[in-house]
Amino acid sequence: MGYSAQAVEAIRSIGQHRLECIGCGDLCKEAGPDFRCEKCGDLLEAVYDWPEIDAEIVRRTWLHRRTSLAPLDQSGVWRFRDFLPILRDFNHVVSLREGNTPLYEVPRSAKSAGLQKLLAKHQGMNPTGSFKDTGMTAAISVAKEKGFRWVACASTGNTSASMAAYAARAGMRSLVLIPEGKIAWGKLAQSLEYGAVTLQLRTDFDGCVRVLTELVHRYPIYLLNSMNPYRLEGQKTLAFELLEQLEWEVPDHIVVPGGNLANSSAIGKGILELHRAGLIRKLPQIHVIQAEGANALVRTVRETGGKKLIPVQAETLATAIRIGNPASWKKAVRILEATGGSVEQVSEAEIAVAKAEIGEDGIGCEPASAATLAGLKKLVKQGLVKKAESVVLVLTGHVLKDPEYTFKFHQGELLKDSVAESITEAHRRPPIVLDGTVDAVLPILEAAGHGE
Ligand code: F0G
Repeated sequence: MGYSAQAVEAIRSIGQHRLECIGCGDLCKEAGPDFRCEKCGDLLEAVYDWPEIDAEIVRRTWLHRRTSLAPLDQSGVWRFRDFLPILRDFNHVVSLREGNTPLYEVPRSAKSAGLQKLLAKHQGMNPTGSFKDTGMTAAISVAKEKGFRWVACASTGNTSASMAAYAARAGMRSLVLIPEGKIAWGKLAQSLEYGAVTLQLRTDFDGCVRVLTELVHRYPIYLLNSMNPYRLEGQKTLAFELLEQLEWEVPDHIVVPGGNLANSSAIGKGILELHRAGLIRKLPQIHVIQAEGANALVRTVRETGGKKLIPVQAETLATAIRIGNPASWKKAVRILEATGGSVEQVSEAEIAVAKAEIGEDGIGCEPASAATLAGLKKLVKQGLVKKAESVVLVLTGHVLKDPEYTFKFHQGELLKDSVAESITEAHRRPPIVLDGTVDAVLPILEAAGHGE
């Protein structure tokens, strides 16, 4: 108990946040409806004054809260509230007990990547099945404190599922804009279940963002896309929780899938804050992996040195990262530069195989998440990640989000061209239809190696 009191004392002077433009550095207390700088149009981020902090007291307070029954402490986001001074009153917190997700060893995946050991932080184990919950609890709580009645987002699926759930918990109405036919059923179903007004627009994700941006300028609706800097505040707590799970041993590498690029930026922000506050002494390299068909950051870094965004027409079966005009590209470039990380792109077949390999470790993730393992294999081949180094993959969503992808994969119906299908063949386990007799079952069991 004593530790909590001491920690509040130790870090009280972090004080309330301000919003700073990442482009021109302009500071403001309140953001406009689209969370863009009124002077230059760039994105905003929450900044604080960092006082001297007793790292040991902070670490022990955070760990101590894991044993508490208080709702705020049971959240794996608000447990770190000392570094989240984004609310005037913590009574406004809307929580589904997000965060506190497992960190698993994945030995088979490690072997296939050519590493001695590999860890996976499974953000798909959040309440609505993706990492979005960690950011949503933060931003919805701000919306509630500000008195909004409606919230909205454009989404490839997970943001909308998460927003709909948190809005329902908060007693707010929610509006979801999703690209027609391009989101997985598991995600769409959640929005419907949690009572969102769900619109399938005949456009892509980037088109949905354009419509929403106009809408929030006309009506009092709180925007919950990741331009909203409070989403990133919640998502940054992954870094705190991960380091705690690693007993504050900093990994050499963290590998994150990249779509709109808020998550990689948020994790990087969390890491830099830990460093600044003296809780860690070195930085992990943060690597961002994109699908070849949605590789705006890869092209931006390779072709312009990270200076100018090259938008692309996005196309990938990993629908969560099917984004061609990523809002947070500048924030992500800053994190790559600050941590010495890299970007890589992976093919559809590489994603599909990596997903099955993670599955063979007993862990189910969605395609976008598996891009991390596919990318890691390339980083190892290029020598950017060494065999004995410590690596954490961030698995962003649960396998049950997109069961159709998984089913088609095992049926051999996922990838249209035969070369790609031949790459995935060894990992396919289609269901077998038989007569209902033991005689029919036994030969199959023997062929599968039973009794060897
Ligand atoms: N993984 C999953 C499972 C996602 O749902 C997303 C983004 C990402 C990775 C990429 O994260 O955009 O921060 O780089 N999904 C969005 C959505 C955009 O609407 O649910 P990012």
